[in-house]
Amino acid sequence: MSIKGQCPPVGPATFVSDDFVFGRIEEMAELRQRLSARESFVLHGPSGSGKTFLLHCVIRNLPDVLYCPQAGSPQLVVQSLAFRLVELRDRYTKSFLRNAQAVKMKSTISLRGIVLEAVRRGKYIVVLDHLQGPAAALSSDTRDLMLYGETPVLAVARSAHMEDLGFLTPMFSLRGERMRLSNFAHVEATRFAEEIARRTGLWANNLPEFIERIVSLSQGSPGAILKMLQMARIPRYRLNGYVKTSPLYIDFRLGWHAQNAW
Ligand SMILES: Nc1ncnc2c1ncn2[C@@H]1O[C@H](COP(=O)(O)OP(=O)(O)OP(=O)(O)O)[C@@H](O)[C@H]1O
Ligand SMILES: [Mg+2]
Repeated sequence: MSIKGQCPPVGPATFVSDDFVFGRIEEMAELRQRLSARESFVLHGPSGSGKTFLLHCVIRNLPDVLYCPQAGSPQLVVQSLAFRLVELRDRYTKSFLRNAQAVKMKSTISLRGIVLEAVRRGKYIVVLDHLQGPAAALSSDTRDLMLYGETPVLAVARSAHMEDLGFLTPMFSLRGERMRLSNFAHVEATRFAEEIARRTGLWANNLPEFIERIVSLSQGSPGAILKMLQMARIPRYRLNGYVKTSPLYIDFRLGWHAQNAW
């Protein structure tokens, strides 16, 4: 079943209209519920399963979310939180940072002090997307936010293990502190692919077989399915009205690995 809601286009494989969300009703309800309960938790799932996409659907109307799109280092986190605080005209931040330009002029050390204090005083939710094995410094900043500021932190990673959550792993050790987003199951993934093909007017003599093949090759990943459907329009993967599945899949794999290394 599909529902409509307005979502920003996210990720490399976005090419359908940006108001289309397929399924995920329960997952979005759970995300909303956890955020409104102001819980800290980790959202994890394989690449392309839709973590960033769903998150945007849910947080776009929440005024108090400080979203960091690439939580790769303390510098990146502090800077994107500072930009967001300026955008929200946070009262404390205003006296130190008048605009985005002022954020760029400050050192990480002074930004860090301003951001931690602003978050401690305010009633925000911090979202750290695309975490990849955060080291000790970022993890200790995050712990400070959670413990002293009592700010909920939503950490987004591909798994809840050490290689993705790094030093944050012990902070999300309980089962209730983890939410998994799986790929679509086979039937759902097939319907998703058929719906995308229909919406984008994709046609081929071997369309049903092609869809069947990419659904199983992708293991139900919506991001991977979208990408391969997109590639199926490119002339070099077509011959006499047929999609050439094998070369398309090989090129997809090569591109997917390169594109999905954060
Ligand atoms: N339920 C859905 N309905 C429609 N499109 C979806 C859905 N889920 C995912 N997508 C599409 O799949 C693409 C990939 O999703 P997204 O980038 O959110 O994956 P991710 O889990 O964040 O991956 P990564 O771990 O690599 O960051 C999105 O750009 C979006 O277009
Ligand atoms: Mg993502």
